[in-house]
Amino acid sequence: MPEKIVIIGAGQAGQQAVQSLRSEGFTGAITMVGDEAYPPYQRPPLSKAYLLGSFERPRLFLKPDSFYADSGCELILSTTARAIHRADRTVELEDGRKLPYDKLLLATGARVRKLNCSGADLSGIHYLKTIADVDGLQAVFQAGKRIAIVGGGYIGLEVAAVGAKRGLDVTVFEAMDRLMARAVSPQISAFYASEHEKAGVKLKLRTGVEGFEGNGKVEYIKAGGQTYEADIVLVGIGVIPCQELAERAGLGCTDGIVVDQNARTSDPHIWSAGDCTRHVGREGHEIRLECVQNAIDQAKHAALSMTGKPKTYSEVPWFWSDQYDLKLQIAGLARPTDTLVQRGDPASRKFAVFHLRDGVVAAVEAVNAAPEYLVGKKMIAEGKMVAPEMLADTSIPMKQLG
Ligand code: FAD
Ligand code: NAI
Repeated sequence: MPEKIVIIGAGQAGQQAVQSLRSEGFTGAITMVGDEAYPPYQRPPLSKAYLLGSFERPRLFLKPDSFYADSGCELILSTTARAIHRADRTVELEDGRKLPYDKLLLATGARVRKLNCSGADLSGIHYLKTIADVDGLQAVFQAGKRIAIVGGGYIGLEVAAVGAKRGLDVTVFEAMDRLMARAVSPQISAFYASEHEKAGVKLKLRTGVEGFEGNGKVEYIKAGGQTYEADIVLVGIGVIPCQELAERAGLGCTDGIVVDQNARTSDPHIWSAGDCTRHVGREGHEIRLECVQNAIDQAKHAALSMTGKPKTYSEVPWFWSDQYDLKLQIAGLARPTDTLVQRGDPASRKFAVFHLRDGVVAAVEAVNAAPEYLVGKKMIAEGKMVAPEMLADTSIPMKQLG
């Protein structure tokens, strides 16, 4: 009998796994189960160009439909996998069907964290994760409308930028004392705060949300002891890994499905990749990454391991964010104790912040600065030492430093 691989989750990691399994020579059967109505699509444009209206829906799909047929991958959509039976190696679907597997990949991603304050279930309160979510938001995302954005992280700020561009009256409520605190240095937070304010976005920092009020539909947001009027609310307060299936099946999970450097779980027949996983990163610490890079690279490593060619996953993580005409590109994982070196002037809207650890480049945050990002990423991979004063000197081209 040919081997059977089942993939749960038809997203970024699931799609990559199908592609990599075939390119690594797997000739058995592949079935991918997804609970959304669509075949795998890219999420990054959802809060950027797609919401702005400058990115057509067909371009969201990672592959044309023919890819799955040509790859011999059976795609079961609009269907939730509800249990994994490890003893008889089957996946049970919500409709009762049972799919036998020899190897299983969990690529279930992460779900949005929801607010549970008073009025959180009023209509007009939106979250952003899926095509369906953007369609719902798009219908009310109109010039002149007052939008209250809860969370000054990636999603909140990307939507704020699109909202400002489209003429909405935008207010961002962020619980921390600076923007994108989870992901960027204070310098980058300060720069983005100033850019958003220049675009007319009102920022309420250190302002947690207490509740919402309205007659069936949201009309007021209560935050920081004050009440603000709002026509629309968009919440972007982070995500939670979808690990319940794995947990119920008795797999090791700690804020993410725990995998080794070959993307293998505590069951040798089960792998996991993408936002749902926790792994030991290249610096030796456990991490859970929420980005396209990790979904792609970890799925590739899962496919290598599943086809008997395990390779240690130790890629440098990278991220990006588009807000206004600013491209933020980040490589590596910063720590608060790193020494920061700024290269270029934020006023020029083209600069970078390097993070040095014991003199070695550990992370780079680049704003409209592709050479800094690209060379910086290479330096991180190579563990390159560089003198801070040379990094800060823009008269020395990056390629000379790399
Ligand atoms: P997903 O792509 O989320 O796919 C998981 C799929 O599994 C989902 O469709 C889910 O519904 C499904 N599923 C879960 N449980 C089950 C089940 N039991 N049965 C069946 N199906 C199930 N990252 C970046 O690096 N850069 C960006 O600029 C960026 N922008 C983003 C913008 C938005 C609006 C969002 C939401 C995310 C963004 N990300 C960005 C994050 C990036 O999209 C994710 O890291 C990536 O999609 C993770 O891929 P994944 O395959 O792990 O999960
Ligand atoms: P996030 O973690 O980036 O930001 C959430 C923000 O909400 C934080 O700044 C946090 O302090 C704030 N917050 C939490 N609770 C709050 C509350 N009660 N009131 C006010 N503020 C509160 O998560 P975000 O933006 O929701 O993104 C979700 C996912 O999408 C993440 O996985 C993210 O990596 C991914 N994404 C990535 C992008 C990128 O890499 N460019 C772009 C968009 C999304």
